[in-house]
Amino acid sequence: MEKKKTILVTGGSGYIGSHTIIELFTNGFDVVSIDNQSNSSLDAYKHVERISGKKVDHYSVDLCDIDATRKIFEKYSFGGIIHFAAYKAVGESVENPLKYYHNNISSLVTILSLSKEFSVSNLIFSSSCSVYGNVTTLPVDENTALPKAESPYAFTKQIGEVMLDDFCKINSDFNAIALRYFNPVGAHESGLNGESPINKPNNLVPIITGTAIGKIPQLTIHGGDYPTRDGTCVRDYIHVSDIADAHVLAMKFLIEKRNTQNYDVFNLGTGKGISVLEAISAFEKVSGQKLNYKIGPKRPGDVIAVYSDSKKAETLLGWKCKHDIESMMRTSWLWEQNMKGK
Ligand SMILES: NC(=O)c1ccc[n+]([C@@H]2O[C@H](COP(=O)([O-])OP(=O)(O)OC[C@H]3O[C@@H](n4cnc5c(N)ncnc54)[C@H](O)[C@@H]3O)[C@@H](O)[C@H]2O)c1
Repeated sequence: MEKKKTILVTGGSGYIGSHTIIELFTNGFDVVSIDNQSNSSLDAYKHVERISGKKVDHYSVDLCDIDATRKIFEKYSFGGIIHFAAYKAVGESVENPLKYYHNNISSLVTILSLSKEFSVSNLIFSSSCSVYGNVTTLPVDENTALPKAESPYAFTKQIGEVMLDDFCKINSDFNAIALRYFNPVGAHESGLNGESPINKPNNLVPIITGTAIGKIPQLTIHGGDYPTRDGTCVRDYIHVSDIADAHVLAMKFLIEKRNTQNYDVFNLGTGKGISVLEAISAFEKVSGQKLNYKIGPKRPGDVIAVYSDSKKAETLLGWKCKHDIESMMRTSWLWEQNMKGK
């Protein structure tokens, strides 16, 4: 029998990282996580263990510190790396761009340098639909030309993709995939793992469930007169477990050498645009609660509508979304209720 592969997951106690570790365990991989806990707590590993019955081998190390990270690479022989670790708050990146350039770029430099030093040949990188900016043609596919980034955060994802492309050009035995996620939401089906950032959430679903549970007095919708079907912004919400699933498929795709080029990019979205009001109505339906919300002013920099064409991931990776918006809201609500008072 083939030896089990050990995958290094960076940002493994974060929201998407912890869900992906569960999926990796389910698929028979061993996992090592590195996370400096700048936006997550060690509790995430307990949630993973409760769901999967497996302990996560983990290190609290800052990836910008290459020497500390090298010590971990010396202990293992990684079959692949899934690099989630990054700062991700768009607004904060506008106020403090250097914080984002330093963390998101330096940590990727560390990962690529050590991949070369230790001959690790497979990497999956967390990119984002924010690389597309304010698109005019929908749905958006991977051939869409990337405009000037709308924020330093989005620019770090564009730079990360270029770094991977450049690195792959001169290292023909190195394989990398950038996955451009649309809007990850939801929680594990069990309700035992979900999004619990240390820093204040600024995305819609935790604000919806936070309002419903009473942590947030009222939800403000940013803008009600956009040129969309109900005046509110449209996004492609995608369940975090579908995103996690795609990472395992992408890693297997590289490990099994099914890739025909050593650098590639895939969109991960459901392909369905959902407006803010539709998301609220799906939440109200599954929770049986009326949400306290008001329409407020538009937020500068918000894209009006964006949703994905994900045919490439479906065709090449064999990936298919299993969850709809109601499942996303149901699991988020279950998680919020389980977290009450904790
Ligand atoms: N959640 C989203 O809406 C979304 C959308 C598109 C792309 N992404 C990208 O996906 C990735 C994961 O996002 P998430 O939602 O799980 O975020 P998250 O903040 O929950 O997880 C990221 C983890 O990385 C860790 N980290 C950050 N910098 C680090 C460093 N220098 N060294 C070690 N650990 C570090 C944080 O502590 C955190 O646990 C990020 O790269 C993010 O930019 C997220």
